[in-house]
Amino acid sequence: MSNDGPGTPVQLRTSHWYGGDTRDHYIHRSWMKRGLPDDAFSGKPMIGICNSASELTPCNMHLTELAEHVKRGIWEAGGVPFEFPVTSLGETQIQPTAMLLRNLMAMDVEESIRGNPIDGVVLLAGCDKTTPAMVMGAASVDLPAIIMTGGPMLTGRHEGKRLGSATDMWKMSEAVRAGLLSNEEFMATESVMTRSAGHCNPMGTASTMASMVEALGLTLPDNAAIPAPDARRKRLAHLTGRRAVQMVREDLRPSAVLTRSAFENAIRVLSVIGGSTNAVLHLLAIAGRVGVELTLDDFDRIGSHLPLLANVMPAGEHLMEDFYEAGGIPAVMAELEELLDGDAFAVTGVPIREHWAGRTTWNRDVIRPLTDPLIAEAGIAVLRGNLCPQGAVVKPSAASPELLTHTGPALVFDTIEDFKERIDDPDLDVTADTVMVLRGCGPKGYPGMPEVGNMPLPAKLLAQGVVDMVRISDARMSGTAFGTTVLHTAPESTVGGPLALVQTGDVITLDVPGRSLTLHVDDLELARRRAEWQAPPPLAERGWYKLYIDHVMQADTGCDLDFLVGCSGSTITRESH
Ligand code: FES
Repeated sequence: MSNDGPGTPVQLRTSHWYGGDTRDHYIHRSWMKRGLPDDAFSGKPMIGICNSASELTPCNMHLTELAEHVKRGIWEAGGVPFEFPVTSLGETQIQPTAMLLRNLMAMDVEESIRGNPIDGVVLLAGCDKTTPAMVMGAASVDLPAIIMTGGPMLTGRHEGKRLGSATDMWKMSEAVRAGLLSNEEFMATESVMTRSAGHCNPMGTASTMASMVEALGLTLPDNAAIPAPDARRKRLAHLTGRRAVQMVREDLRPSAVLTRSAFENAIRVLSVIGGSTNAVLHLLAIAGRVGVELTLDDFDRIGSHLPLLANVMPAGEHLMEDFYEAGGIPAVMAELEELLDGDAFAVTGVPIREHWAGRTTWNRDVIRPLTDPLIAEAGIAVLRGNLCPQGAVVKPSAASPELLTHTGPALVFDTIEDFKERIDDPDLDVTADTVMVLRGCGPKGYPGMPEVGNMPLPAKLLAQGVVDMVRISDARMSGTAFGTTVLHTAPESTVGGPLALVQTGDVITLDVPGRSLTLHVDDLELARRRAEWQAPPPLAERGWYKLYIDHVMQADTGCDLDFLVGCSGSTITRESH
């Protein structure tokens, strides 16, 4: 069957549903027509718009408006659009943590794409986990797919000062606890913190993942940073729809884009933008779906020595709106050109170097040159040692340089509830040298690995002017947050990782330059503690929680479910009637 538009004719997948005169073809067409002309079902690429809009996912609320612009582009290019909803995850709303449901959303995306009559798909995402979930699901089907994220919010402004969503919230809440800001003043910023449609506007996880999918070549150029309410994002949506139709005609699938080179490019971009540690988990999980051998150590080997170029919160001072006006991801990639593989193939059907060709940086304070970075070595560091035999991560660009090498006594919290109960106790035995250890917050143990690794500092130390401490956990940290926090410690405590054996008073050494995390307790004593250790009782007996706990993998491989790794393709072998 040939197509109406330009490009190499391909046998459309949807011809299985619509391309014949049997009873079943009749059923599929008749129930779907509802006003569509007959020729909509004869050789036009049918493009699904996989929409994670939800009024319970505030960062994605506006995606339905963008979907209308995607549809215009699809119609214009000779395709037929069909928008469909999928699970959505609002990072600030859903409990106990959106990460618990990332893989569920990915399953929903995967099966919704595979089971429905579509030839290609536009993925609309935004809030943190929605972007990786979309890509994981689509990659496991491997139909032509292009993603568009919803864009960051406009910069918040309050009493003459700029507010970075979440980043300044963390800072102000600590200032309240330190007695430096009244709670009234803090609450007065609530309405301006989220000033417009869009996701968080620092280089948090949403902006980072939007940048990652752009660096991977899965989006049109400029996707990551155009602010959500900007008319240029509507234009991008139109062009994305148009491009999806052409991708079907070219049979251009995620497996052609998501190569080892693409991931290496993404890791380098992650480093120089000061991106979220969450990207480590998500990129590992996406790589697992497409069979690319990517390891935790690749992030350190490929990216850790790279400098910080993006002067964007939380590592810097500007916000995504400024980053876009300074040139956005194409300008960053142009800056990094000599370190990137420009031959990596993008959804535009061209080598990705064409995405940055001719692009320049308009504001050198926001995007620095390689010769004058903000920080000389800013990429995510991967630690090893007897406290994290399967690794742990730390983000030096968000940490205090003087704490990157530190030895101190442990103060252990068994759960986040234990932490909250004791942290502001005036009698808590803690000093600025203490290493705070939080466990029970891993993928299986919480479950879902919440973003609590940036434990607030004890109120009495805040009052003394302490602004950072070494913190270690098997949890994650919001990409908008900061601090000398060792995260993703693996194996997690709940499965018997060494974190389970630490006792208050044990001495711990963090040595980021040496890439080590050491618990100074001898092996005999650790063996004794292990013999006494008892695994906590199962946290769930039914439903998604049980499936997740039984099958989620550890942080060092990206926390996908073990049976979701890989790709099942787009073929449907059985009929529904
Ligand atoms: Fe949605 Fe921050 S809460 S991106």
